[in-house]
Formats: sequence, C-alpha cells, structure tokens
Amino acid sequence: MQIAVLKERRAGESRVAASPDTVKKFIALGAKVTVETGAGAGSSFADSVFQDAGAAIAPSAAAAAGNADMVFKIQKPMTAAEGLDEVSYLKAGSVLMAHLYALTEKPLMQALAKQGVTCFALELMPRISRAQAMDILSSQSNLAGYKAVVDAAATFGKAMPMMMTAAGTIAPARVLVFGAGVAGLQAIATAKRMGAVVYATDVRYATKEQVESLGGKFIVVDEEKMKAAQTAGGYAKEMDEDFKKKQAEAVHAEVLKSDIVITTALIPGRPAPKLVTAAMVAGMKNGSVIVDLAAEAGGNVDGTVKDQATVTANGVTILGHTNMASRLGRDASALFAKNILNFVTPMLEKGTGNLKINWDDELVKGTLVTKDGAVVHPNLAG
Ligand code: NAI
Repeated sequence: MQIAVLKERRAGESRVAASPDTVKKFIALGAKVTVETGAGAGSSFADSVFQDAGAAIAPSAAAAAGNADMVFKIQKPMTAAEGLDEVSYLKAGSVLMAHLYALTEKPLMQALAKQGVTCFALELMPRISRAQAMDILSSQSNLAGYKAVVDAAATFGKAMPMMMTAAGTIAPARVLVFGAGVAGLQAIATAKRMGAVVYATDVRYATKEQVESLGGKFIVVDEEKMKAAQTAGGYAKEMDEDFKKKQAEAVHAEVLKSDIVITTALIPGRPAPKLVTAAMVAGMKNGSVIVDLAAEAGGNVDGTVKDQATVTANGVTILGHTNMASRLGRDASALFAKNILNFVTPMLEKGTGNLKINWDDELVKGTLVTKDGAVVHPNLAG
C-alpha cells in the first residue's frame, strides 16, 4: 500500500495532511509513504523530518501521486479552471482523503469520479462517539476557537484580565461568544483563562450546561424552541423568524456592552445565520473587536469581509479569517493527520498493510462520495 501526501497549493493554506508521527505509524502498519517536497513547510515539518520518519520525498505532486494507492490532502484538489489541474495527478483506482466540501462541490465530485478516484469527504464523518477521534471539523474548530480569542486579544487595545495596580484598577474585558459548539466552547475556555468575563448564546439548549461548566454566562432566548433546535446528528437547525427576532432582542444589549465578540454559529449546508447586525456593530464601543469564524459560510456579522480586517466608522475591528486553523499550522496539521490515521487504520489489513475497506462500515458509508466512476453519496444523488 503506497500512500502519497501532497503539498497544499491553495492561497492561505499552511497545513499538511500527515505528520512525522502519523508517517511512522503508517509505516509500522505496513504501508509505504511518499511526501511531496515542501508539503510540510507551512507547518514547520521539513522534508528531512518526514524522511527521518521513514517517508520518501517526491519532487512533485505528479511524482508523489503517480503510483499511490491512497492520497492524503487537506483541501479539495484544484481544477484547471483554478489554474492548476490537481485532479489529473490522481491515478484511476486510487483513494483520496481530504476536506472536500463535497456537498457544495458537485462538479468537482463528478470530475473526481470520472478520473476513477474513490473519494472520502472527511467533513462528512458521522457524529457518533466512535468517530470523535476521526472528526476533522472538531479538531480544526477547536484550534480555530482558541486562535480567535488570541487574535482578538492581540487586536484589542486593552488588557483581558482585571488588574488592580497602584496606578488604578483595570476592568476585565467582556467577551460574548455566539455559538457554543466545538469552536465556541474553546473560545469560552480560552477567554476565561485569559481573565475575561464571558457570555455565550446558542440555539441548542444542551449547550447551556457546557457553557456554564466553563464559567461562562448563558443567554437563554426561548427555552422550548431551544430544546427542539438540535438534529439527531448534533447540529443546529435553522430557527424560525420569531426566534430570530427574540434572539436579536436578547443579545442586542449584550453586544453593545461587549469588548470582544466571537461568532461561530453555523448550520450545515446553509449560509451562516446573520446574528450581529450593522446596527449592533454601530452601537459598539470604539476599540471593540469582532472575530467572525463563520466568515467562510457568509459570516454571522454584517460587515465581515472574507480574509480581511475591517475597521468600522465607529472604530470596531472585524476580523474575517476563513481558515483560522491554518494559522496554527503545526498543531492543526498534527491533529488533522491523526484524524486520518484513526480513520484509515481499520482499512489496512493487519500484517500486510494492504487496503481492505469494509464498505458496510457506517463511517465509510457516511464519508464515501465517489466510487467506481460514479458519485455515490446519498446526499449528492441525482
Ligand atoms: P457547528 O460548527 O455546525 O456550529 C457551531 C455552533 O453554532 C453550534 O453549537 C450551533 O448550535 C450554533 N448555532 C447555529 N445556529 C445558531 C444561531 N442562529 N444562533 C446561535 N448559535 C447557533 O457545530 P459544531 O461545533 O461542529 O458541533 C455541534 C455539536 O456537535 C457539538 O457541540 C457536539 O455536541 C457535537 N459533536 C459531536 C461529535 C461526535 O460525537 N463525533 C464531534 C463533533 C461535534
């Protein structure tokens, strides 16, 4: 079994889908690993570190993928229309593992199927306990939540904790977090550790206890509707207009009092809900900071510009990074790589390391997008 790890070529992407640790483990399982030269550069993994772990280094993506049975990537392959045809590197019959954005990238999935590649969209990993160690959305969102607070603190022109000094007392920063999922909970924990006073809100009532256990104060909007807001898969549902109105009223005053607002609210497959309106931003204090982690899905905040820092007329900075995890490349890569290792290990036959996929496995079925020249995921059928 030959594994290839390709260098990421999309703008702003520093991560790599393998680490020296996972390379060693794949080799111990009987696989051979080839890493494209420079693939780890953005994550501070030099070629020599991968070599020391037992990998061969290939001079190009085509050379790395040319004889690979399985290819690991972070991002979906680029197409000729984007200036570089990465799909053409992939050999017919090979398996691709990556964050493919499969449900919104149907033409790309069709192109990969036509190329004869068997694709696993790692973002579709079912949310069951067995899959937690394979969940790239969790591992990356956790780091994004942490980095959002670190970025906000670095931009904010005041201190985070309360300080009592001979020259006077500094009040603690007030942080408001929208969405208490994986990223939001880590943002709450990080802001608390830095000494801020933290408020949070979510549509899922189940998050109230989690927020409180981290020392955050939870803003309840409509208890009954919040109790029904969670899907069987653990995600949020889109809320009705009445709830959205009540939510806006409930959080408006809190936004105005906040020094830092972190938004993380997402609904799978839908644009991010707009939660912080232009009027709220206009009412915030000069020097306040907003980090919109939903920027990639259109943003939770009126005025977010993708991958830019915007300063409003009243002095509020809005940060709209779309790939926050990439800004912690080393850790993000190590965890992404470990997620892949955990998913792929059961696919390798003990002793030989040969690929032997159990097509009936729930996790395989949940993430498999293309096979035998066709797009096969049920959510992409037709
Ligand atoms: P996400 O990234 O899709 O959304 C982030 C948060 O935004 C969620 O908590 C969601 O409820 C909230 N949200 C959506 N619309 C909102 C609105 N209008 N106002 C306020 N908040 C809103 O979700 P994430 O973080 O990926 O995961 C959600 C939950 O899934 C986790 O808390 C966890 O319970 C579960 N999970 C389970 C896993 C497993 O068992 N393998 C792995 C990862 C997560």
